[in-house]
Amino acid sequence: MARLAYVNGRYLPHGSAAVHIEDRGYQFADGVYEVVTIIGGRMIDEEPHLDRLERSLREIEIPMPMRRAVLKMVMRELVRRNRIRDGLLYMQISRGVSPRDHKYPDPSLPPAVVMTTRKADYVNNAKFADGVKVITIPDIRWQRCDIKTVSLLPNCIGKTMAARAGAYEAWQVDADGMVTEGTSSNAWIVTRDGTLVTRPATHAILNGITRLSILRIAREEGIAFEERPFSVEEAKSAREAFTSSATSFATPVVQIDDTVIANGKPGSLSRRIFETYMDYCRGLRSADAAPAAQGRRAG
Ligand code: PDD
Repeated sequence: MARLAYVNGRYLPHGSAAVHIEDRGYQFADGVYEVVTIIGGRMIDEEPHLDRLERSLREIEIPMPMRRAVLKMVMRELVRRNRIRDGLLYMQISRGVSPRDHKYPDPSLPPAVVMTTRKADYVNNAKFADGVKVITIPDIRWQRCDIKTVSLLPNCIGKTMAARAGAYEAWQVDADGMVTEGTSSNAWIVTRDGTLVTRPATHAILNGITRLSILRIAREEGIAFEERPFSVEEAKSAREAFTSSATSFATPVVQIDDTVIANGKPGSLSRRIFETYMDYCRGLRSADAAPAAQGRRAG
């Protein structure tokens, strides 16, 4: 069966699916996207991904291309047609097709919608057993990293630097020496006293949907956590570190640059969070257990 892509109302063979050369996503990176993981046929955190999609669109004044219920039907139909049990759905919405001009065109321009799927077993591919290495690089991105825009060139540069250094991810570092986030994941550490730390969701980072799920799990499990910036030095001397995204879940980090973290093995809290998150993804755990007030937020 041919792999299909959804492009502006049509299901087309993936290999020949195309958008117009004057699509503003292509010319100006004037668009936003989401990546939703599919496990056992379930779209993980579908509603929070759609909430964030709507927020990203609102922030740059692109109208929702269709009602959320209709968007969800298209997502389901593409997953069904491509017979995806385990994999991901990629969705991109750009401002649409218009003669090249920097300023936003008329707001009545219909946005362009593209969706693709990919089969992959992210759970079993998760580099959980041994953990991964990350490098640190300067964060050279713009000041609205909270918008999930397709403008990802700095992220691509960083990820390539990581790959060339034999690392899985690059953690980006702001002018004050504080880690912002990975090129496609959020950064976490566990302090010597067992507190989970991740940067607060300001304009400096993307507020990861996995990040939000992990914070909710921490609340439910009574794990102490703080949302505050942490430095590269603090990360290197942390008890544990990990990096989170829809496709990498909570991947333990066992080396940062040349520094091995703790004993060089995935830490127990990272493992517990990964496993609890997996239970949630497999539907063995609900998303709405009563939150306990454990978290502190600073900076
Ligand atoms: N990236 N930070 C950045 C810069 C990201 O690109 C991503 C996700 C995250 C984690 O967000 P979430 O938990 O919602 O996946 C954080 C996706 C997976 C990608 O670009 O492929």
